Amino acid sequence: MASAAPENTIALAADHAGVALKARLKRELEKRGHAVLDLGPMDESSVDYPDYGHKLARAIEQGQASRGVAICGTGIGITIAANRHPKIRAGVAWNIETARLVREHNDANVLGLGARQVDPEMAVAMLNVFLDTPFAGGRHAGRVAKLGRTE
Ligand code: RB5
Repeated sequence: MASAAPENTIALAADHAGVALKARLKRELEKRGHAVLDLGPMDESSVDYPDYGHKLARAIEQGQASRGVAICGTGIGITIAANRHPKIRAGVAWNIETARLVREHNDANVLGLGARQVDPEMAVAMLNVFLDTPFAGGRHAGRVAKLGRTE
């Protein structure tokens, strides 16, 4: 059985456009041995993506999960919402390279995905790359540190 320790737990949140992809990614995460914190929604009734982006961000900020995946039609709106939270670095990826770079260069703790933009199997492949790629550090560390500064 998967450990539900926060470091092994991945949070998932979506809007109505991302419900089916969220279910697909949940199966993949469980196959990998992760515990999944599914923050909804659980059906395709219309909802507002900021509600779920904030919910995902709060769960990570509170230490309930180490990383998250935020899914809406484009991946953009829900990622903007998550990025309003100081401890969140969320980035949208659309192929394998951007899923790798969002970790290597940006040390993202949330992967943003556009369910209407990418094929589900590509999304699964991107999820795996996101989870398996470490932050490169080095010259990127100072840049990531500056992300928290507004002046
Ligand atoms: C919902 O129709 C759509 O606007 C939403 O899923 C997302 O793409 C917003 O950024």
